[in-house]
Amino acid sequence: MNILVLGSGGREHTFAWKLAQSPLLTKLFVAPGNAGTAAIAENVAMSVNDFEAIGTFSIENNIEIVVVGPEDPLVNGIHDYFLNDEALKHIHVIGPQQEAAELEGSKEFAKEFMMRHNIPTAAYESFTKETVEAGCEFLTTLQSPYVLKADGLAAGKGVLIIKDLQEAQNSLREMLVEAKFGDASTKVVIEEFLDGIELSCFVLTDGKNYVTLPTAKDYKRIGEGDTGLNTGGMGAISPVPFADAEFMEKIETRVIKPTIEGFQKDNLPYKGFVFIGLIKVGNDPLVIEYNVRMGDPETEVVIPRLENDLVELFQAVGNQTLDTISLKIKEEAATTIMVVSGGYPEAYEKGKEITGIETIEDSIVFHAGTKLEGEKVVTNGGRVIAITSQATTYEAAIKKSYQNINKLHFDKMYYRKDIGFDL
Ligand code: AMP
Ligand code: GLY
Repeated sequence: MNILVLGSGGREHTFAWKLAQSPLLTKLFVAPGNAGTAAIAENVAMSVNDFEAIGTFSIENNIEIVVVGPEDPLVNGIHDYFLNDEALKHIHVIGPQQEAAELEGSKEFAKEFMMRHNIPTAAYESFTKETVEAGCEFLTTLQSPYVLKADGLAAGKGVLIIKDLQEAQNSLREMLVEAKFGDASTKVVIEEFLDGIELSCFVLTDGKNYVTLPTAKDYKRIGEGDTGLNTGGMGAISPVPFADAEFMEKIETRVIKPTIEGFQKDNLPYKGFVFIGLIKVGNDPLVIEYNVRMGDPETEVVIPRLENDLVELFQAVGNQTLDTISLKIKEEAATTIMVVSGGYPEAYEKGKEITGIETIEDSIVFHAGTKLEGEKVVTNGGRVIAITSQATTYEAAIKKSYQNINKLHFDKMYYRKDIGFDL
C-alpha cells in the first residue's frame, strides 16, 4: 500500500525509515521531507497545513495511510478534513481529530480533562485578561517558583518558570494584557511547581485499545548540565533507567488507562500517538502535559526499539483492531544525540554543507533540518541530524553516537556532550 508521512524532521525520517522496512509498503511519500527521507521515499513539496493539496495528492496517489508527524495540522483538523470528504474518508489518518487534539492545543482543556478523569497532575487555576488581578492574587498563595503557561500553542516557548513573585505577576500581565504570546496567551494556566525528574511515555491508541511504547527521556536545554534556552530537544534515551516495573505499573493504572477511558467517556475521537509528559515526584508519576503526536527526538529512540511492523500497527489503529497486536520491544537501549546549527535555538545560518555522513558506522543517521542541493546535503534548520545508537547499556550506546559524531562536519556544528549525565 501507499503511505504519506507529513513533516520534515528527525521524527518523520524515523517513521519513514521504519515504514520502509515493511513488506506491506508499496510506495512511500514524505511531505515536505528532508535529505534523509529523499533517500528512502519520494519527497513531495507540500505544506503540512495545505489540506486541499494533501487531499488531492492522496487521491491521485492511492494513499491508504496518512501519518501526521507534527501537532499543527492535527490541531487545525486534518483528520476531520479527511473524514468529511467522501473521496478521502476511507484513508486512515494517524493522529487524533481536532477536538481531541485540543489536549495539546489548549493547556486548560488538558487540565480539565485530567481533573475530570482523576489523572494526577499539578494543582492549577486559569485566568484571562478580565481576571488578571485575581491571577496576581492567586500567585501570592503559591510558593516560588511560579509556573505560568500560555493556554495555546506557542512553539514550545509558552511555559515560564519564575522564582520572583513580582516578576511572575509582571509576566502574567504581559501574557494576558499585552498578548506576549499572541492569541496563545489569551488564557494563562498558573500551576503548582512540581519538583522531580522528567520522563515521557508514549501510547498508540485506536480510540478503544492501546499499546504502550517504550519510555524516553529527552534533554530540552541547549547547554550542558541542562542550562540555557529551551530547544525542541538535544538528545534522548530509551528506556528511562529509573522507570522500573513498579513505576510503570503506576503510570499504566493511574495515567494511561484513565486517559484512554477518558477519550471514550468524553467522546473524543482519537486514533494516533499520545505523548504523555510526566514528572516523577517522590515515587509517583504526575502528568505535566499531553502531546497528540510523537516527540522529536524521542521518536528517534523509541521507534528503533520496536520490532513490530509499523504499517501493521497503523492499519490496526485505523481498523480499531489494536487489541489483536502485541508489541515486541528490543531489550537494547537506544540513545540519540542531536547535532544542531550554531546559534540555535536563536538565530542561526542555513545552507552549510554537511560532510562525513557516509562514514558513520553502527549508528543510524536521522536527518532533521537538512536538504539536498544538487549532490550535496546542506543544513536547512536548527536541529540538523540525530545520531541514534543501540547497545546493551545506554552508556555504551551514547559512546557510539559520540564516536560517530566526530566523523560529521559542518560549519558552526554544535551538540551537547553530556546527554545522560543526570541518570
Ligand atoms: P510543557 O510545555 O507543559 O511541557 O512545559 C515545558 C517544561 O516546563 C516541562 O518540560 C517542564 O520542564 C516544565 N514544567 C511544566 N510544568 C511544570 C510544573 N508544574 N512544575 C515543574 N516544571 C514544570
Ligand atoms: N522533544 C519534545 C517534543 O517533541 O515536544
